[in-house]
Amino acid sequence: MFNDRKVSYSGVQPSGNLTIGNYLGAIRNFKTYSDRYKCFYCVVDMHAITVRQVPAELRRRTYETLALYIACGLDPEINTLYVQSHVHEHAELAWILNCFTMFGELSRMTQFKDKSARHADNVNAGLFTYPVLMASDILLYQTDVVPVGIDQKQHVELTRDIATRFNQLYPDTFTIPEPIVVSTGKKIMSLADPLKKMSKSDENLNGVVFILDDKDTIIRKFKRAVTDSDTEIRDAEEKPGIRNLINIYSCFTGKTVPEIEQEFKGVGYGDFKIAVGEACAAGLEPIQTRFKELVADKAYLEAQMKKGAEEAAWYARRTLGKVRKKLGFTQV
Ligand code: TYM
Repeated sequence: MFNDRKVSYSGVQPSGNLTIGNYLGAIRNFKTYSDRYKCFYCVVDMHAITVRQVPAELRRRTYETLALYIACGLDPEINTLYVQSHVHEHAELAWILNCFTMFGELSRMTQFKDKSARHADNVNAGLFTYPVLMASDILLYQTDVVPVGIDQKQHVELTRDIATRFNQLYPDTFTIPEPIVVSTGKKIMSLADPLKKMSKSDENLNGVVFILDDKDTIIRKFKRAVTDSDTEIRDAEEKPGIRNLINIYSCFTGKTVPEIEQEFKGVGYGDFKIAVGEACAAGLEPIQTRFKELVADKAYLEAQMKKGAEEAAWYARRTLGKVRKKLGFTQV
């Protein structure tokens, strides 16, 4: 809460091309809060370097992620859209919060366990303390709600624990944030392996639908989606492939699961997959059109980055100033 206004905060890593999982689980829902809340949406480039990045690609994706925020309907005049490394207060608060986070807590984070297994040659300290930087992102802005996919819920819960611990020692410092996870779209699965989350860093590109994929590519990926040997289009635990496709179709059409099961009664898997691909391509098309215009105008994006960084820094400085005072740091 800032000046009686509730705050929504979230972030996306520019560590790969964004997927429909990022869109349906997170970005699409950011707009929900635009009218009523003060909203901050960040491109978290400092989180991205916990795994090795090619500098030119990181730079390009940072611009693209900002452009995608805007193309997905986030008006930069209403929302504060900015790049994490432009506001140095994030790194400062992260150090402070490191001193209020337990080794055991970080060791239990599922994402750390997964990523350290995947990048066994580079289990750096940043990968381990990643959730503390995320906590500082959220807490700097006195955030009330954090719209995220289900995979980030554990990190927001840890943020709550860190904030509560800090507030117990230094009362009234941070707002305690709440994770907001939508029911449909919270976990979009890989089309190639429906037991695995769809991820921008997945090596099997057939399983991942990117927001910027063209229509033919989208349809081709859906046509190849792994399903089962049954023939019925039904939402069931033992049919994870079909369940995922029903979920994606529901997200793009707004139809409920029973409506979808009814609509595709007696229809073959092949036709169903094409229908899901068509709905997905149609839903992404306006975003892609707007994205192309935005990304061609680098000066506009740079102006937005600058404006966003200035706005965000103003809020960040206020919280960090308060934290410094409470801790007993001196001022010159
Ligand atoms: P990242 O970049 O991995 O993902 C961005 C958002 O997309 C969601 N998401 C998904 N949702 C549904 N299905 C999927 N397959 C899927 N894949 C990703 C994620 O849950 C996330 O909401 N640590 C964060 C970034 C971050 C952040 C923050 C988020 C940094 N600071 C502060 C909120 C608040 C991350 O790696 O997201």
